[in-house]
Amino acid sequence: MRTMRAAYATRFDADNPLAALAVGERPEPTHPEDGWMTVRVRASSLNHHDLWSLRGVGLGADRLPMILGCDAVGTDPDGNEVVVYPLVADPGDPRGTSILSEHFQGTLAELVAVPRANLLPLPDGLSATDAACLPTAWLTAWRMLTTKGRAEDAESVLVQGAGGGVATAAVALAVALGKRVYATSRDPGKRERITELGATALEPGARLPERVDVVIETVGAATFDHSLKSAAPMARIVVSGATAGHEPKVNLRRVFAMQLEILGTSMGTPGELTALLAFCAERGVRPVIDSVVPFGRVEEAFARLHSGEVFGKIVIDHTA
Ligand SMILES: NC(=O)c1ccc[n+]([C@@H]2O[C@H](COP(=O)([O-])OP(=O)(O)OC[C@H]3O[C@@H](n4cnc5c(N)ncnc54)[C@H](OP(=O)(O)O)[C@@H]3O)[C@@H](O)[C@H]2O)c1
Repeated sequence: MRTMRAAYATRFDADNPLAALAVGERPEPTHPEDGWMTVRVRASSLNHHDLWSLRGVGLGADRLPMILGCDAVGTDPDGNEVVVYPLVADPGDPRGTSILSEHFQGTLAELVAVPRANLLPLPDGLSATDAACLPTAWLTAWRMLTTKGRAEDAESVLVQGAGGGVATAAVALAVALGKRVYATSRDPGKRERITELGATALEPGARLPERVDVVIETVGAATFDHSLKSAAPMARIVVSGATAGHEPKVNLRRVFAMQLEILGTSMGTPGELTALLAFCAERGVRPVIDSVVPFGRVEEAFARLHSGEVFGKIVIDHTA
């Protein structure tokens, strides 16, 4: 059996997810059925999802060992440079799909197998490093702003917990879409960097100069009340994560009196990823990258993500 290097979960640790991370040899992928292809990964990126997996959230013990990672850019067997769309049809999952590393082995490896339909061409002008940030965090932010948040009808956007991968994406994309953007972060250094992206940075909970039309929520319990208070009449509060708690108190009087829409969303469609790739390539928008780490130091990359000190995406260079 041929093997390859990979970063994977062999067990779960709810308190210390880093302790559940293994790096070593795993079998090379076999194609589950016709129409699947193997991609040689050049670059991937980490997501908070990888830490949830190591904690045992969203990943069943019967699926272990599981190679982590949702994002990948690489070369297909014909030598084409491709971006991997990470959702795969999964009839056994109530959502109808699962993201790579939940049921099907993930991207933090030399090779990943996916359906051919999941391969999108890497557009000219986008590097593998940049494009590796887009399929999960940036796609999620893009759908939150456009399809769900209806940003075309919005003048202002608030992004909570703005240092994270999804949140920095939302700030950069909302600025590129021409919106007035406010963003909260607990960290003064991150607030300075948010300002450099073109947003007005605020401490968590601070009063905004105006009520906003769209709120981008990935933090959850720690910020949700502030999101409600900051929303203009008819605003959309779009939720794709709950890093700091998934059971916030919700002031329903504010929800109905201000006619707020609270919208859940996950990831995006292949069409939305194609649109995002084109938007970034054509408009010169580039992902906010915290650091590029060689695969040989992937454990350090996980430790950095876990520390919460990141500003933007951590990219893994599989060629190093
Ligand atoms: N549904 C989907 O399709 C989807 C896709 C991608 C991500 N997600 C989810 O979205 C969330 C963010 O993902 P990510 O990859 O962007 O994570 P990340 O890069 O680890 O960022 C998390 C950010 O949340 C903020 N935060 C954490 N704890 C906080 C607290 N107690 N109070 C206030 N802010 C806090 C931090 O911002 P500051 O340090 O700036 O305050 C941090 O940078 C995760 O829960 C993830 O599972 C969902």
